[in-house]
Amino acid sequence: MVSERVVRIVFLGPPGAGKGTQARFVVERYGACQVSTGEILRKAAREHTPLGKKAAGYLDRGTLVPDDVMLKLVAERLHGEDCGLGFILDGFPRTIAQAEGLATILRDMGSTLDCVFFFHVPRSVIIERLAGRRTCKRCGTLYHRIFNPPTRETVCDRCGGELDQREDDREETVAARLDVYETQTAPLIDYYHRQGLLREIDGVGSVEEIKARVFQALQESGR
Ligand code: AP5
Repeated sequence: MVSERVVRIVFLGPPGAGKGTQARFVVERYGACQVSTGEILRKAAREHTPLGKKAAGYLDRGTLVPDDVMLKLVAERLHGEDCGLGFILDGFPRTIAQAEGLATILRDMGSTLDCVFFFHVPRSVIIERLAGRRTCKRCGTLYHRIFNPPTRETVCDRCGGELDQREDDREETVAARLDVYETQTAPLIDYYHRQGLLREIDGVGSVEEIKARVFQALQESGR
């Protein structure tokens, strides 16, 4: 961690845009917490918690978990001690109602958003990325079979855990997730643009190239 500046950022973009990959770099540098709502829901589903049981069907279909459930989850998470140095919201908000709820949560905490990074990536690139994604079951590190392969095909370089393909990365679920993104989440681009919070990041290129763009954009927004 090299900075003590607080960051409060939303990462917005289609499935497979690289939000999770880039969020990890920002967290490493700023000490902020990464609030990945998809990750939280998948963990809850694996552990069969009440939240997980509620979310499982939505995750399988690639549709959105109801807004009230998500807002309660995020409000609790943002009050966590580890969010004291800020947060990267990765995968939230995903609807206008969630964005409005987030504004209320932050207002009640005496806080606001710094900015919203929108990762622009065309559909053909997304499909390629999701088809090759592998995730460590133990520590969550992300790999790609072609673009970011692990040394051994099924083993995590970082912790030795087993690598897995996400259930919702199957072709038919990816199509459903992209449709849900277009109809329910993409309107947030205009919503945040009108508030002067949106920064567009070209999400095509290598992981390192995009990382450089993200840090450049952070610098330009005074972080
Ligand atoms: P979630 O887990 O949030 O999925 P998502 O938004 O669809 O995003 P992804 O995790 O698929 O992609 P990403 O942008 O993080 O890309 P990544 O960095 O992994 O949500 C899953 C489900 O949970 C939803 O469908 C819904 O049911 C539910 N949910 C979650 N949040 C919710 C909410 N707020 N409201 C309601 N429901 C909610 O990269 C992808 C791959 O590409 C990786 O293999 C990576 O290694 C590779 N890669 C990354 N960058 C590059 C690059 N530059 N070049 C080459 N490869 C790259």
